[in-house]
Amino acid sequence: MSRSTYDIVVLPGDGTGPEVVREGEKILTALAEGGPAPWRLRSFPGGAQYYQKTGREWEPEAEAATQTADAILLGAVGWPGISLPSGDIAGAALVLGLRQRLDLYANVRPCRLYPGVQHRISGTFKQVWEPKSVDMVIVRENTEDLYAPFHGRLRRAEETELAIDTRVITRKGSERVIRTAFEIAQRRDRGAPEDGVRRVTCVDKSNVMEGCRFFRETFDRVAAEYSGIERDYAYVDAFTQWIVRNPEHFNVVVATNMMGDIITDLASVLQGGMGLAAGGNIGDGHGMFEPVHGSSPKYAGRNQVNPFATFFAVEMMLRWLGDRHQDAGLIGQAERLEKALAGSLADGRARSYDQGGHATTSEVGDRVAEAIRGVRS
Ligand code: IPM
Ligand code: MN
Repeated sequence: MSRSTYDIVVLPGDGTGPEVVREGEKILTALAEGGPAPWRLRSFPGGAQYYQKTGREWEPEAEAATQTADAILLGAVGWPGISLPSGDIAGAALVLGLRQRLDLYANVRPCRLYPGVQHRISGTFKQVWEPKSVDMVIVRENTEDLYAPFHGRLRRAEETELAIDTRVITRKGSERVIRTAFEIAQRRDRGAPEDGVRRVTCVDKSNVMEGCRFFRETFDRVAAEYSGIERDYAYVDAFTQWIVRNPEHFNVVVATNMMGDIITDLASVLQGGMGLAAGGNIGDGHGMFEPVHGSSPKYAGRNQVNPFATFFAVEMMLRWLGDRHQDAGLIGQAERLEKALAGSLADGRARSYDQGGHATTSEVGDRVAEAIRGVRS
């Protein structure tokens, strides 16, 4: 059922997180102009810098708000030199913690190259890949694998002798993320750029690892339910060269957590860099959307980073909320936002430094807000 007002919890976090989230709020405001906003934003501080100040990663009210929110928009967390007594990054509660706590088992990271976007490679800007060749969605498992909280050290005479991270691959965890990948392949309006074929590629290292063999078996079992979708396999090492050499082959890709973390950073180069890469942490009951780039301490406070990744995260959030609540108005807003984003990238009027331009974070936000005003839903 559609709602009159969606409760969106905003967690700006650390470093450049608050800078890009501010622009995300700006475009939400632009989208809502001329009528009552269909959402209410509630923002809560938290993260590593907050931990340093207060001794707490966030407040209990913030945590409680994430449990009841219709959706969460996260900036970024983490700051060099600030960690928890356990050794984890301070602010982990807002990202790794929520992935577990809200059971956000699929991390959906679209990788699409929009016309007008350049790649910065070796310090220069180039058109390396054809925009039409890069259009895939990478689905990363988000709650288990090497991220499962089973880590430990053996200390003898005050000396660490051994450190262990346990790789956990479960039937349930694999099955549901693989099913998410097939559902995305089924619902997308297009297949792989190469041949239009709907295809799901299972990325693993099943030639070596038992967990990966089990993941691939589960992949085959789930794939059998989707007769119209081609199944495809890639060992992760080979995948890293194919995605650079033949990105047009890929449509939807599914991977375990750690490998998914690594390949999505690599994939971001194909879409124009981290400044454009967004992800949705999605479970059956909750969704949290974020730019993939992190808190980028080097750029913090300089009004310089690209807020487009956050804009794409907002677009994913609106689309997810719209689908979930069968709210055509929200889906229309997501489409309007996507048009404004694609248009702004194509005309090059909103280029930040990472795109070879000079627009500041807030100027990019202003120009995209203007573009939104020009696109009617
Ligand atoms: C990501 C990030 C996180 C991860 C960090 C911040 C813990 O790199 O979302 O990809 O490793 O998952
Ligand atoms: Mn990462």
